[in-house]
Amino acid sequence: MAAATWRTPLCERLGIRHPIFGFSHSVDVAVAIAESGGFPVVGLAREMPHEIPAILAEVERRMGDMPYGIDLMLPSKVPQEASIDGLRAALPPGHVDFVEGLRRRFDVTPPEKPSFFTTQVRSEALFDAQIEAVLASNARGVATAIGLRADLIERAKARGKLTFSLVGSVRHARKALAMGVEVLVAQGYDAGGHTGPVGTLSLVPQIVAVAGDAPVLAAGGIATGAQVLGSIAMGAQGAWLGTLWMAARENHTPPALLARLIASGSEDTLITRAHSGKPCRVVRSDWIDAWGEPDAPEPLGMPMQQVLTGDVFASIHEHDDARLIYEAAGQSVFAIEAPTTVAAQFERLVADMDSAWRRLQGFAA
Ligand SMILES: Cc1cc2nc3c(=O)[nH]c(=O)nc-3n(C[C@H](O)[C@H](O)[C@H](O)COP(=O)(O)O)c2cc1C
Repeated sequence: MAAATWRTPLCERLGIRHPIFGFSHSVDVAVAIAESGGFPVVGLAREMPHEIPAILAEVERRMGDMPYGIDLMLPSKVPQEASIDGLRAALPPGHVDFVEGLRRRFDVTPPEKPSFFTTQVRSEALFDAQIEAVLASNARGVATAIGLRADLIERAKARGKLTFSLVGSVRHARKALAMGVEVLVAQGYDAGGHTGPVGTLSLVPQIVAVAGDAPVLAAGGIATGAQVLGSIAMGAQGAWLGTLWMAARENHTPPALLARLIASGSEDTLITRAHSGKPCRVVRSDWIDAWGEPDAPEPLGMPMQQVLTGDVFASIHEHDDARLIYEAAGQSVFAIEAPTTVAAQFERLVADMDSAWRRLQGFAA
């Protein structure tokens, strides 16, 4: 029997072969996802705004007319404008001392290369610069997480872009729909990155129930084809995966981080505010664990926690520090077993959807 293909209305609309949406900060991963028949979403929230036009130009040069999306994080309650040096001077001395103590304890050396984490602060001015760059691109989809901006949604739609919003609750979903968002990504507690308290399996049917005609995608903890098919069975039009791609060669994952992800199971991820100031699921390391020790202060809010610790995150990635390295990662980390490629991951996901379908057919009376 030939393998079934699962082309939901959203797949048809976007012209993709598989109902698999892949979030990644890596252009190489995004290109490979597009070539494998999925819909890539390039995360731009960690890029320096002046670099975004060149990144998107590269994406478009390499993808030709294959569709892709971009993603921005737009939290509210950030300063209008901010300089990292100005905010560093305003950090609470107790927190500065604590982090200084950790730097000494773990021998953290300063990063050598400038990066988002050492030079940028999330502010409205930064978001404006990111938005302008994104609107000027040919991206077919524009996704936002953590916050919503009515002007971005309106302007993206006016340029023919499909708007997506990551939502973690029915309240968020209603707000996004009221602002005119067209696709809801129901992202559960299991997900890597910033998450809410409701698990994906419980969240998806609730979001489907309020979405009306708006397509819903399921996100969080999904790493197998059976889960993708299960999401469609629950009313979603596809699944949105993030963690899985970190196993792909195209992600250029630092070797120590890849080794940690391979060795980790779902229970080795936890939700912490230590990374960004907002609850974020990451894979544990000694750095993350240090923030759970009895003498540790409560992490600061967003963006101040990253002003406090951004250089450490940059350093442990730059130096591939086996003891401290961590990254946003979902409970889906269970499926990271060995280094691989995006094409092999797609082959496996699609074959697994097919065997799940046959299994179901076998049970149908
Ligand atoms: C390393 C990493 C970075 C992420 N960064 C962002 C981001 O910048 N913006 C965003 O909307 N989601 C981000 N996410 C969340 C993904 O969009 C997605 O919802 C999530 O990965 C789905 O759950 P999974 O990790 O179990 O597949 C990130 C996820 C990971 C693993």
